[in-house]
Amino acid sequence: MDRYVITGKQRLQGTVKTSGSKNASLPLMAATILAEGKTVLTGVPNITDILNMIEVLRNLGCKVKFENNEMTIDTSTLAKDTVDEELMRKMRASNLILGPMVAKNGRVKISRPGGCAIGTRPMDQHIKGLKLLGATIKEKHGYLEAAADKLRGAEIYFDVPSVGATENIMMAAVLAEGTTIIHNAAKEPEIVDLQNLLNKMGAKVRGAGTHVIYIEGVKSLHSTEHTVIPDRIEAGTHMIAAVMTEGDVVVENVVPEHVSPLIAKLRQGGADVRIDGDSVRVKHQGRFKSMDIKTLAYPGFPTDLQPQFLALLTIADGTSIVSETIFENRFQHVAELVRMGARITVEGRTAIIYGVPNLEGTFVEATDLRAGAALFLAALAAEEGTVLERVDHIDRGYENLEEKYRTLGAKLQRVVKRC
Ligand code: UD1
Repeated sequence: MDRYVITGKQRLQGTVKTSGSKNASLPLMAATILAEGKTVLTGVPNITDILNMIEVLRNLGCKVKFENNEMTIDTSTLAKDTVDEELMRKMRASNLILGPMVAKNGRVKISRPGGCAIGTRPMDQHIKGLKLLGATIKEKHGYLEAAADKLRGAEIYFDVPSVGATENIMMAAVLAEGTTIIHNAAKEPEIVDLQNLLNKMGAKVRGAGTHVIYIEGVKSLHSTEHTVIPDRIEAGTHMIAAVMTEGDVVVENVVPEHVSPLIAKLRQGGADVRIDGDSVRVKHQGRFKSMDIKTLAYPGFPTDLQPQFLALLTIADGTSIVSETIFENRFQHVAELVRMGARITVEGRTAIIYGVPNLEGTFVEATDLRAGAALFLAALAAEEGTVLERVDHIDRGYENLEEKYRTLGAKLQRVVKRC
């Protein structure tokens, strides 16, 4: 597994362009299963989660071409209804094929994704929704099998606003007979992007971005072209990096509204944040002030930026409290940050951070994607050098990270480890 060797205390300056959204691209790729013929997606990031999803689609028999962030998916050759277990295990989001496969193919069998570093990640809401649409679900020997001759529209109430369950049910319902109403739907921008693609394919979906989504089933969907929205978590990571390194960075290709909870918190801490169209300029202004944050479903503060923001709070002036309400085990970065000189105590889903003037470089290890991003930022801000192990976690979600940060003035090197 590769590692980064990072020289800290380099002030980041300049312009960085955000790539297309990972979490939007994954359901969009799954949704292409629903259309007849070839769908073209542009702005898809070249990262390992996407490469794994390509393998899932290929495993089902689809033809996928991916070059220069443009992906062409031909699903007319779809030939299988079971995905190899090893592939499913590589990425949880591969469960997003469940809805489109039942709707289009009538049957699908996947190995049930287990828990992961950040939590148990149940699928009860996906299953409940599919059952209400008329699918039969069998769970045996770690496999989940869904089948239906014909799906029928239904009224579905989610107990929790799950992003993945909302997407899966939207994709299943577009080809169902009649109307589906999803109550307590997740409101994330990635769900709006999925609605936009589905409607371009000829679906009748409205309400995405609110807590009620209405879907009127249609007989078939056609191929189309679509550009993926910018990655709000990547953009947010760059914005935090600017403040942590006492820098001045313009982040391009951002939908400012998608990062509004972060912008509010950065301003609260004293950073100068200016919006100009689809760019956001973030400038450090004196020592960042401590504050409390609580992660919530969109438009609340995103759990996927909690580790990075917590890293920033380790060098803020004063004491901060971070409450994680979405995932039960999302403080794995804390132990590593403590090794870098941070003062943090964790009780259950709450972390108390006593700001220190500086972090110190040392050997640390990423345990998951966003924990890895947090340690990356901490290393950029730390005094002296840091060796960050398990860069493969970061590669899952950040495109051209080294290149982007070198352009901003960071000093870092990837050391390729051969097994
Ligand atoms: C998506 C994102 C992930 C992000 C998360 C929350 C993708 C590919 N991943 O994950 O980066 O951290 O949203 O913003 O888009 N839950 C249930 N039952 C279910 C499903 C979920 O109880 O059937 C719970 C989860 O345990 C969690 C909460 O709902 O507490 C939110 O999870 P969910 O929105 O489903 O996350 P994902 O879609 O897996």
